Amino acid sequence: MEEKILSIRRAAREAISVDATNLKELDAIRVKFLGKKGELSQLMRGMGQLDEDARRNIGKLFHAARTEIEALIADKTAELKSKELAEKLATEKIDITLPGRRVHSGRLHPLTLTLNRVKEIFLQMGYTVEDGPEVETDYYNFEALNLPKDHPARDMQDSFYITDEILMRTQTSPVQARTMERHSNNEPIRMIAPGRVYRRDDYDASHSPMFTQVEGLVIDERITFGDLKGTLEYFLKQMFGEKARMRLRPSFFPFTEPSAEVDVSCVMCGGHGTDCKVCHGSGWLEILGAGMVHPDVLSMSGYDPKVVSGFAFGLGIERIAMLKYGVDDMRLFYDNDVRFLNQF
Ligand code: DAH
Repeated sequence: MEEKILSIRRAAREAISVDATNLKELDAIRVKFLGKKGELSQLMRGMGQLDEDARRNIGKLFHAARTEIEALIADKTAELKSKELAEKLATEKIDITLPGRRVHSGRLHPLTLTLNRVKEIFLQMGYTVEDGPEVETDYYNFEALNLPKDHPARDMQDSFYITDEILMRTQTSPVQARTMERHSNNEPIRMIAPGRVYRRDDYDASHSPMFTQVEGLVIDERITFGDLKGTLEYFLKQMFGEKARMRLRPSFFPFTEPSAEVDVSCVMCGGHGTDCKVCHGSGWLEILGAGMVHPDVLSMSGYDPKVVSGFAFGLGIERIAMLKYGVDDMRLFYDNDVRFLNQF
């Protein structure tokens, strides 16, 4: 019997250290040697026939065998568990160095960004933002602005007529007249009016049949040309930076007298002009039209030019956006190529 116990111990040692390559196999080995019907239990059944002394001796050997085998299985279990964990970690490893997938989000159009900035600057100065229709009457688009029918200055803006009396507005200036009409008693006005305008223009790098303007109108007692100049200078510095300089040139608009065209020092060359493609060497860029509101324009919309005076201006948003972002072709704003739009 002693021999048998020793041989079971040997066989168990061998099985545990060599045969058991995973936890399942190890469990089968445990059942084979230690289970109720396992080899040790089978052998123990024969102990009944032994005398007391022999039984005590053999009992100790059984106990030692069981203890050893249990300990070996416990060690092996721990070993196999950590091996399986290591394998799992190796195969299920997540490579956190892989770059993530980019989430593409929309963004504001450069014209919207520019328009928002213009609005912000004038809102800070207490201006209101007014709106008017893009399909406009001949009266508001021209007549109320001192451009009677057959006035030669209408040729400055080739128009899309819908009927004889209705057209796509060629400028945001009609919002001046509409806003004045909504007021009475020479009430002061300080407003801007952003929006789309339409002209029969070619479609090229600097023209488009549809573009965006912002109109400005200020009316109050004793408004002077100096107020206009100060306002525009402040605006241009806010828009293009403190270094920006402004220049006024005499001009003509039927709804203002006197009228001026306003230039800003070239944002590309800083006004040097030398070899500059943007200002073509002049150092200046034309950016808006402005002037003192013509007395007839005031009176046509219910204001008394003997009591109040005003200034007005109109600027092109595309032009400002081109200068601000260094865009050299206006059509890029309308093509909506995402490779372009993604840059803003
Ligand atoms: N409406 C003019 C245009 O589209 C721009 C303009 C010039 C607006 C002078 C004004 C102004 O209010 O005073 O060419």
